[in-house]
Formats: sequence, C-alpha cells, structure tokens
Amino acid sequence: MTEAWRKYRGAPADGTPLCSLDAIPDPGTHGVLVGRFPVLLARNGATLRAYVNACPHQYLPLDHRGPNVISADGRLLRCTNHDAAFRLEDGVGVEGLGLDCALDAIPVTVDAGGMVVIGAA
Ligand code: FES
Repeated sequence: MTEAWRKYRGAPADGTPLCSLDAIPDPGTHGVLVGRFPVLLARNGATLRAYVNACPHQYLPLDHRGPNVISADGRLLRCTNHDAAFRLEDGVGVEGLGLDCALDAIPVTVDAGGMVVIGAA
C-alpha cells in the first residue's frame, strides 16, 4: 500500500476513529468526512477497505450521485459519476474511466470496541 493518501490536505493521523464497523453495510460502502478529508469505507464479508473518496477521473466522491457504489457481487466499486470501476480488494481501476488509475488506499483496523480506525494493525 502506498502512502499517497497522506499527501491529501487534511489527511488524518493514525488512530483517528472513522465509524463503527456496524455502520458499514455488508456488502456495501459508507462515506465519512474527517474534517474535510473524505473517506470511503467498503466492506464485503471479511474484507474491509478504506480509500480516499476522490475518484481519480475528476476527483469527485465515488458516492456523489448516490450510495450504490458497490457492485452486486461485492467485488467492484463503481463511481456513481461516470461509471469508472475499481476492485474493492486493492482499488485498482478495471473498467471504463478507471483503467490505468487506482484509488488511494488508507490503512484501517477495527479496534476492540468495533470502531474502524486509521492505521495498520
Ligand atoms: S468522477 Fe468517477 S468516473 Fe468520473
């Protein structure tokens, strides 16, 4: 995982709480703002990922036009603006305007109280 997410203005510190794990649909996504820093949390079973919620096509939030970002099979994140698709697993663009680019991943863990926090385990 790269550290690109730390270069965004307002990138939060390790240990910053984002939301309860229960707040993220399974499968599904949940957008969170930490100050003005946008995070998209995505979950499918045991897989939990977080990305900067800025699509590399036009840097709009992936859920700008609605909450239905995750594909029916739970494997893709599809930008609601112009349909760029990225793998949930690693954020790599795999379809449309997502080709040749990727989402910026943010390391997250779930603490003992069920809170999703920024930072690797
Ligand atoms: S802003 Fe995401 S596909 Fe255009």
